[in-house]
Amino acid sequence: MEILRVTGGTQLSGSVRIHGAKNSVLPIMAASLLVRGTTVIHNCPKLSDVQVTIRILEHLGCKVRREGSDVIIDAATLKRFDIPDGLMREMRSSVVFLGAILARCEKAEISSPGGCELGPRPINLHLEALAKFGANIRDEGGNLTCSVCDKLRSCEIHFPTPSVGATENTLLAASRCEGTTTIINPAREPEIADLAEFLGKLGAKISGVGSGVISVCGIPSAGASYIEHSIIPDRIVCATYMSAVAAAGGDAVLESVYPGHVAPITEALRQMGVDISLSDSSIRVVSRVHKGAFLKSAKPIETAPYPGFPTDAQAPLMAACLKAEGNTVFVENIFENRYRHCEELRRLGASIKTEGKTAIVSGVRKLKGASLQSTDLRGGASLVVAALSAAGVSNVSQLQHIDRGYESIERDLTQLGAKIVRENFSEG
Ligand code: EPZ
Repeated sequence: MEILRVTGGTQLSGSVRIHGAKNSVLPIMAASLLVRGTTVIHNCPKLSDVQVTIRILEHLGCKVRREGSDVIIDAATLKRFDIPDGLMREMRSSVVFLGAILARCEKAEISSPGGCELGPRPINLHLEALAKFGANIRDEGGNLTCSVCDKLRSCEIHFPTPSVGATENTLLAASRCEGTTTIINPAREPEIADLAEFLGKLGAKISGVGSGVISVCGIPSAGASYIEHSIIPDRIVCATYMSAVAAAGGDAVLESVYPGHVAPITEALRQMGVDISLSDSSIRVVSRVHKGAFLKSAKPIETAPYPGFPTDAQAPLMAACLKAEGNTVFVENIFENRYRHCEELRRLGASIKTEGKTAIVSGVRKLKGASLQSTDLRGGASLVVAALSAAGVSNVSQLQHIDRGYESIERDLTQLGAKIVRENFSEG
């Protein structure tokens, strides 16, 4: 079993580049099915979720190869329209392939992706939207069989609540429809804008991204046969490393970022007494905790759809609050079960009370290294952040969760001066 051995107490310094966004590259790799030729994706992060997506594309008949940070996909040889249960279960966000396969093949077969560590993860909004386009969807024992009688038709979709994945599936289907599809109350995350820019290169005319109404004028025919696209930086990886510098102390710069994408995290850290200065593509974080200073508690952190505080940054920021003076209140409004990291943080000596959506972190003076188990992707990253500010050595296990969304968390944090090593650990 691999673990990360983290020795806390070292301040961070230097600079590190933030890699491409997991939550942008996954839907764009699915959208490559709409290109009857080659897609070149630049700044593609090396993540286990990307590897699963490549396996899905190859299962469907595409040719895929990686050249450094580029992934080249040839979808001209697509020959299947189904994703087997095993592959679907490896990554529930594969549901975004549903819209892409339907748009290309006018039929699709996938199994329901099911829940994950964060809660049930329903897909009703996805299915209701695709049905509006004219898709017939049968759910038999968790297998979804989708077909289109004639062809997908443009329509008006009104989401009762913004959903990133359902908005992505809707954009994928709409990009292949003649006429104009209107999406009301779509998700506004930056990853949606990145997907829309990609679909624009295919020939779709998309307006209103980031607002409350998106219009898509699709192209029913083949469209472009060669597309290049560069993935936006990962704002959650950026938020994680900002929290790490805040927790450990030091003066470090995060490069290749869009500061506007992490504004809520910047605001919270500034409230905590962390100095943050921004340039067009970098963020400098200065924290004095290594000099005996203590961070202050931030105003209540309430997660919300973008541009609100991102649910994915809740756990990493919480790790930076464990020794902040006073109480920091978190309210998790997006997922039912996103406080699983709290029990592990308590093993370091953190004082956290959770009740329903709310978690109250009471600052403690000292944290002590412990053996920790990652519970999910961002919860696992929060354990690493917290371990940087604990005295002594912590071992973090179940790294498969972290490796889904961080290219090499130990490589990046070592580059900032952290004492963190990945090693094999045999349970004696
Ligand atoms: C995306 O998940 C991200 N994943 C998640 O990041 C992120 O936490 C989430 O958006 C919210 O920002 C990817 O992009 C691959 P949603 P998604 O649909 O699309 C409910 C990470 O750590 N809902 O916006 O699944 C749902 O239960 C991951 O990188 C329905 O009720 O999120 C949730 O409460 C974790 N019915 C809320 O909407 C539906 O049909 C938001 O979910 C769909 C969603």
